[in-house]
Amino acid sequence: MPLLIEPVLPAGTFRAEPQPCLIVDDRLLLRPWCADDVEAVEAAFACPAVQRWHVRRIDGEDEAQTWIEGWDRRWAAETDASWAVVDARDDRVVGQVGLRTISLFEASAQLSYWVLPSDRGAGIASGAVAALTRWAFGTVRLNRLSLLHSTANAASCRVADKAGYGLEGTLRSSMLHADGWHDVHVHARLKSDSSPSPAEQPRGPVRRSPH
Ligand SMILES: CC(C)(COP(=O)(O)OP(=O)(O)OC[C@H]1O[C@@H](n2cnc3c(N)ncnc32)[C@H](O)[C@@H]1OP(=O)(O)O)[C@@H](O)C(=O)NCCC(=O)NCCS
Repeated sequence: MPLLIEPVLPAGTFRAEPQPCLIVDDRLLLRPWCADDVEAVEAAFACPAVQRWHVRRIDGEDEAQTWIEGWDRRWAAETDASWAVVDARDDRVVGQVGLRTISLFEASAQLSYWVLPSDRGAGIASGAVAALTRWAFGTVRLNRLSLLHSTANAASCRVADKAGYGLEGTLRSSMLHADGWHDVHVHARLKSDSSPSPAEQPRGPVRRSPH
């Protein structure tokens, strides 16, 4: 059966280039995950809030390594992408930001993020989301980015607001967590949306990673 519309973005939009490093600001950088990040990944998923909202536990070094190694495959498959958010001075991992359920056909994706407990409350998540948003709209030319969170996750709602993702509505009983069904806020931005949030002003060139 012939399709009556063409995919908005062609296959290879992501995988044709190595996953880039992206500048957040003077203090933070987004870069692909590497083997040395195992300890940080274990620490992140040991946090009850990360386990709660990401519905996953990581048990030990081997599972953290497997989690890290999976991102190269997903980049090649163009289904999902994840960046380590690192301190630009010493490359210390402070968080994660990524794209989930990428659709090249509709030029869309969902955002995901977490920040290590010791680094929360310093604008890391909202800064990382803003940097990824700039790249996803400006370089990749996605059309829509959405950000979904349980209505019980007030910090995530604030991150969405700070990064300029307006609230579109509430999906009732839409996410299953360990404690049952949660209502979910849908926030989104379109490439055509004007006036970027203050956290999203351009901050210098995009650098490509060496591999
Ligand atoms: C949500 C999370 C990523 C935020 O990271 P962060 O780097 O602290 O985020 P930011 O500093 O950019 O912004 C957080 C905002 O939420 C606010 N906030 C934090 N906890 C809050 C709470 N319980 N209720 C309301 N607001 C809260 C902060 O005050 C801040 O707003 P402000 O700058 O206006 O003061 C982090 O708390 C986290 O990793 N949580 C666990 C995993 C998670 O929830 N991931 C998202 C799943 S959708």
